[in-house]
Amino acid sequence: VQETLVLVKPDGVARNLSGEILRRIEAKGYSLVDIKLVQAERTLLAEHYAEHAGKPFFEPLVEFMESGSILALRVAGDRVIEGFRALAGTTDPTTAAPGTIRGDLGRDWGLKVQQNLVHGSDSPESAARELALWFA
Ligand code: GTP
Ligand code: MG
Repeated sequence: VQETLVLVKPDGVARNLSGEILRRIEAKGYSLVDIKLVQAERTLLAEHYAEHAGKPFFEPLVEFMESGSILALRVAGDRVIEGFRALAGTTDPTTAAPGTIRGDLGRDWGLKVQQNLVHGSDSPESAARELALWFA
């Protein structure tokens, strides 16, 4: 069975949306395999977002991800990687489709970073790499 890494980012935890996000994952039929609340270190975040190193939003993104607790989830199910990304919606929460996590619960807050509530691995290779980082 396929597995993916889902993160409820600091905005989701701070807004008390962890339960609502978990509810949507479970209602879709995916299974929780592991779960933990993490205060992420910069080194972990720099590895997690290595593909974005050097981009203008990298520093604000890492600072945002360091700013509060993150709920890390190991989630399992057939085609869960693409399935969770469909549940999450597109990256920009202002225009993410209604019905999705980002579209229903997120918006722009006038900040340099897109606070878009969740992360989900984008490929089997990313999932393996990210699960090893967050659930070492
Ligand atoms: P994740 O599930 O978090 O990886 O989101 P994603 O796959 O939809 O986006 P991507 O991996 O491309 O970018 C990671 C994160 O960087 C996003 O979730 C945003 O928070 C932020 N980000 C991506 N692109 C931009 C951008 O163009 N501007 C800003 N300000 N932030 C961005
Ligand atoms: Mg991504």
